[in-house]
Amino acid sequence: MRPVYVLSGPNLSRLGTREPDVYGAETLADLAALCRETGRGLGLSVDVRQTDDEAEMISWLHEAADGRIPVVLNPAAFTHYSYALRDAIAQRTAPLVEVHISNPAAREEFRHNSVVAGVATGTIAGFGLRSYVLALQAVAELV
Ligand code: DQA
Repeated sequence: MRPVYVLSGPNLSRLGTREPDVYGAETLADLAALCRETGRGLGLSVDVRQTDDEAEMISWLHEAADGRIPVVLNPAAFTHYSYALRDAIAQRTAPLVEVHISNPAAREEFRHNSVVAGVATGTIAGFGLRSYVLALQAVAELV
């Protein structure tokens, strides 16, 4: 089984209670179970992690870069302003798929810009938790 990191950024630990009209009723534990199960079917060993801390997220991206481990990344609000995250992502060589549960392009203006999209392999947004499933399928095809 090929290892893959599924990394989620700030406030995604609050899935299920956070703005359910935008992010749905399922929790981070539900998301983790869905990703592991999807991964099993695709021959991927999925390591699911979430942090509110930019430094911790960057250290995981360095780890992925050093191990050439593909990443499915929901950078959450970091998407819109973290050049540090962008620089960390730019160092890797394995595929990295940016995912969003909602469709940021259909929301407030500040969410329209992603500073990480330009260094990601591709972006999947707007399909609820299925965005992660689609991203894992993309990774499985790319590796
Ligand atoms: C999000 C969209 C971001 O704009 C927001 O800051 C998030 C979640 C999404 O998954 O839809 O925290 O990345």
